[in-house]
Amino acid sequence: MKYRTLGATGWQVSEVSFGAWAVGGTWGEVDDQESLRAMHQAVDIGVNFFDTADVYGDGRSERLISQLRAERTETIYVATKAGRRLNPHAAEGYTIENIEAFVDRSLQNLGVETIDLLQLHCPPTPVYYQPELFEGLGRLVQNGKLRHFGVSVEKVEEALKAIEYPGVVSVQIIYNVFRQRPAELFFREAKSRNIGVIARLPLSSGMLTGKMSPSSQFEESDHRAFNRNGEAFDKGETFSGIDYGAGLAAVEELRPLVPQGMTFAQFALKWILMNDAVTCAIPGAKRPDQAVQNAAASDLPELDAKVLAGVNSVYEGRIKPLAHHRW
Ligand SMILES: NC(=O)c1ccc[n+]([C@@H]2O[C@H](COP(=O)([O-])OP(=O)(O)OC[C@H]3O[C@@H](n4cnc5c(N)ncnc54)[C@H](OP(=O)(O)O)[C@@H]3O)[C@@H](O)[C@H]2O)c1
Repeated sequence: MKYRTLGATGWQVSEVSFGAWAVGGTWGEVDDQESLRAMHQAVDIGVNFFDTADVYGDGRSERLISQLRAERTETIYVATKAGRRLNPHAAEGYTIENIEAFVDRSLQNLGVETIDLLQLHCPPTPVYYQPELFEGLGRLVQNGKLRHFGVSVEKVEEALKAIEYPGVVSVQIIYNVFRQRPAELFFREAKSRNIGVIARLPLSSGMLTGKMSPSSQFEESDHRAFNRNGEAFDKGETFSGIDYGAGLAAVEELRPLVPQGMTFAQFALKWILMNDAVTCAIPGAKRPDQAVQNAAASDLPELDAKVLAGVNSVYEGRIKPLAHHRW
């Protein structure tokens, strides 16, 4: 496993880390023992950074990570998120008092006195224009409830606005073979300001593992069944917002580009890691074999220029017109 510095935190985090949404819920049935085995195996091969949120299984994901930490001696950094417990989820709710109450709950779930990294959880765009909220987060650092804070964003424009606030150390954003726009302006800005970049949906909800087909079935409680058109939350969070059939067609064009000795998932992760503005990718995994395969991508050879050009051509031809301008 290779490690990269997460912006001003100075932490050396595994370049393939762990996204803990699926172990909390909204991806069909999950078994806590199986989830814990997956997380332990990830730590066994060097993963030391876990991304979660208070709403993933209403605290289930945070509590599993707390258990994992209790069972391990290694340093494990945990990034959680707050804001999505607001009902309605509206900009007016993003007061520091509300956020602090969510933080208090996460502290309990995680069984800690200080949260390593708190991210605002894809708030509505006007929240990025509330400097008093970011000042309030700074006070939560001073009073010891947070070590650092950052944001998780839907849009490049929100990322660019968020990094104007001096306390923001990291931005989590969708960046994968199907979502390439962050690599234009945003990555340049993030690098110049030493902002950590956390790449989520690295496998485009599993589609960039090459395992899906037109007849793939998803459980009713899996967002890949119920959120394809953004019925429950931003459409971009499910298959990166790309129409299922269009995504599958692009996957078939990408398949011949996967180098020998790599799985499709490892190829998709390696593609992300080829950009040095990225601190880490956070693939979700529900099973040990997935976690191990994903983490192993770090030590595989880099992709060559021909492969990168091939990916670019598939993106330009099939995906860019569908997604580039939207997020
Ligand atoms: N708003 C936000 O801040 C936000 C939103 C979304 C995600 N996130 C974070 O980003 C993380 C990653 O995104 P994501 O989980 O949505 O999507 P993802 O990482 O692109 O896809 C994860 C899913 O792909 C499948 N998978 C993973 N590894 C595999 C492998 N090697 N082979 C075959 N299938 C594999 C698993 O589902 P199946 O086995 O069921 O197919 C897994 O749950 C989340 O866990 C969460 O921490 C944050």
